[in-house]
Amino acid sequence: MIVLIAVATHIAGVGWSSDSVKMLAVEKCTEDRRALQNGTQKLKILLFGGTGQLGFDLYPELAVLGDVIVPGWHGIPRVDLTDARAVEQMIERAEADIVVNAAAYTAVDKAESDQAVAHAVNAVAPGVMARQVNKSGGVLFHYSTDYVFDGAGQLPHLEEEQPRPLNVYGLTKRGGEIAIQKELARHYIFRTSWVYSPHGKNFPKTMIELARERDSLNIVCDQFGVPTHTRLLAGATAHVIRGLSAGPSNWGLYHLTASGETNWHAFAKYVLEVAAAEGLISRVPHLKAISSAQYPQIAKRPQNSRLSNSKFQNVFGLVLPHWTVEAGHFVQTLAMIKK
Ligand SMILES: NC(=O)c1ccc[n+]([C@@H]2O[C@H](COP(=O)([O-])OP(=O)(O)OC[C@H]3O[C@@H](n4cnc5c(N)ncnc54)[C@H](OP(=O)(O)O)[C@@H]3O)[C@@H](O)[C@H]2O)c1
Repeated sequence: MIVLIAVATHIAGVGWSSDSVKMLAVEKCTEDRRALQNGTQKLKILLFGGTGQLGFDLYPELAVLGDVIVPGWHGIPRVDLTDARAVEQMIERAEADIVVNAAAYTAVDKAESDQAVAHAVNAVAPGVMARQVNKSGGVLFHYSTDYVFDGAGQLPHLEEEQPRPLNVYGLTKRGGEIAIQKELARHYIFRTSWVYSPHGKNFPKTMIELARERDSLNIVCDQFGVPTHTRLLAGATAHVIRGLSAGPSNWGLYHLTASGETNWHAFAKYVLEVAAAEGLISRVPHLKAISSAQYPQIAKRPQNSRLSNSKFQNVFGLVLPHWTVEAGHFVQTLAMIKK
């Protein structure tokens, strides 16, 4: 079978225009697939959401596995995920072996009043990606959230549990999971929780900023979950991609988080104590533990956001470190950047 492969020129400043795209006719035959499986042919990876917290950390992990195409970087135009045709065209043109979707509408409170856009990005676009990846014979990696659960109980949620989202964000993310499962067998959906990284806006960075300005902070102590560093998610994703060449794959849905559990108050306390030890802040302010009822937010949050990562660890043979290990390293990274 003769197919056309679009090859992007990976030089900063060179655009993804028709001029810079060379169309090569190649025979994408069984031999090619075998070479790919044997690791003798370079992977082509398309990464959506490269500017986000997770996408930014995924890039260096993926770049050592093959050629990575990132819409929005190096002159390649950003693809608006509310535009289904643009998503299809990007996947068609990229002819990637692997599509990684780190993009999402993540503004949990704003989603309550911006339902159409949240639905288009979180529920519709992943289904479009899955359908297109099914046509091209590739594999789709996608991320979802603890907010698909209603937060009942006190035990870590298992993959088999029935999701019951409490808010629009959770509902739309669940929609994305269902759409992918319907369209494509060759997928990995990694549900994660309380994501943070040195880039972008997130809870621990906000706590460090507030600690510089205030003597006292009120922090919710009755929502439980697992803070997860993007570095861990990115490294674990790369590990699973490497395993693809080993033979039959364990497609499906997994909970992928750090180990252990905490609540927002204890998370803040740990981060601020390390930040003080590292000289990022002069002292830890008084941290008052409050209930969710004392801190009303637009979107309802689940009280039990714990996700069990046992299935991921057992299937992929990785040891997912305790959240304090990752959070400590995160604060040290911030301190190093500041020096
Ligand atoms: N953050 C958390 O606490 C958390 C918790 C659980 C699960 N997750 C999941 O983890 C994944 C990564 O989250 P994150 O924190 O890295 O997200 P993030 O930092 O908010 O980044 C979101 C990314 O999505 C892109 N995006 C949003 N709307 C878009 C649109 N209409 N068209 C194209 N791109 C669009 C953004 O690009 P632009 O900047 O160009 O818009 C950005 O690159 C997501 O699937 C999220 O649902 C996150």
